Amino acid sequence: MKTHTDTSNKYSEKFEFSPESLAKVNDLIAQYPEGKQKSAILAILHLVQEENGWLTINAMDQVAVILGIKPIEVYEVVTFYTMFHIEPVGKHVWEVCRTGPCMLVGSDKIIEHIEKRLDIKVGETSADGLFTLKTVECLGACGYGPMFQCKGKNYEHLTTEKVDELIEQFRNEAK
Ligand code: FES
Repeated sequence: MKTHTDTSNKYSEKFEFSPESLAKVNDLIAQYPEGKQKSAILAILHLVQEENGWLTINAMDQVAVILGIKPIEVYEVVTFYTMFHIEPVGKHVWEVCRTGPCMLVGSDKIIEHIEKRLDIKVGETSADGLFTLKTVECLGACGYGPMFQCKGKNYEHLTTEKVDELIEQFRNEAK
């Protein structure tokens, strides 16, 4: 697998909340009534991922401690949603929709093209650390496929030419 970082110790990688993040976590928890604090889990996990890039086991364990729940409860949530990353990822995660309507208009071809152009497979990160390719289920843009989402923004009506342009655009922006 191609990655931009040494991942040999990824599962023991330490995570620490910054004081700012910890304050935000406490604010989030305070929005829920007594006894329902664990409902803040998704918002907290997004916060951790924003800070760290991905969710290490240590980070998930700390979220469990903060919310007073078992680590397995956090792992269950994290592994259910594809927007959470449990492996190190590149600077840009391209999440290509592979559900029926997008598949009917060529998402398979787009995924294959991205793999070829970046010399990676789904789930991998390009050697320059810039792109991670993921496939996900419906992103709610079914009439605009094939499409992918990156950092909350949709890239729609994709063609192989458009993908090439986007790769160049992202590369140029990273210079
Ligand atoms: S099927 Fe692809 S966005 Fe809905």
